[in-house]
Amino acid sequence: MSICVRYLSRSGNTRKIAQAIAEGAGVEAVSITEEKQITEPVDVLFLGGAPYANIMDKELRAYAEALDPKLVGRVVLFTTSNWSRRTVHALRKLLTAKGIRVEEDFFFAHMLKISAREDDARDFGRKYAK
Ligand SMILES: Cc1cc2nc3c(=O)[nH]c(=O)nc-3n(C[C@H](O)[C@H](O)[C@H](O)COP(=O)(O)O)c2cc1C
Repeated sequence: MSICVRYLSRSGNTRKIAQAIAEGAGVEAVSITEEKQITEPVDVLFLGGAPYANIMDKELRAYAEALDPKLVGRVVLFTTSNWSRRTVHALRKLLTAKGIRVEEDFFFAHMLKISAREDDARDFGRKYAK
């Protein structure tokens, strides 16, 4: 089972959750600003980001738009925010339209409870690594 964790994080909240998910899954979390695209096939791609003024960051959108459906078995989404799950919903719509399978289940952490959710995020990552 090959697993990747990719994220976009402006202030570090989503990065912390990405790192906890990755730890649970036994892989490294990589920012999409560091590694532009995956080039090898993956069974599970965890992908996450946060909303800004109720829309997802355009860099994250561009990353999702450029994802090669042939390289991705399924995507598992995660987000952090003040209230909105919009990033997850928008990514699901975009990826599904590209023919990429997206898990119904996703991980949400409130921006003020990041540390308190890290154990849950590790469990979430572990669940998909089985
Ligand atoms: C300028 C700005 C706009 C934001 N807009 C929203 C928003 O529309 N909805 C929401 O739920 N959270 C909003 N937030 C909260 C961020 O999504 C939240 O802090 C998130 O955890 C940031 O993640 P990051 O540090 O990984 O980028 C906003 C934060 C900032 C600074």
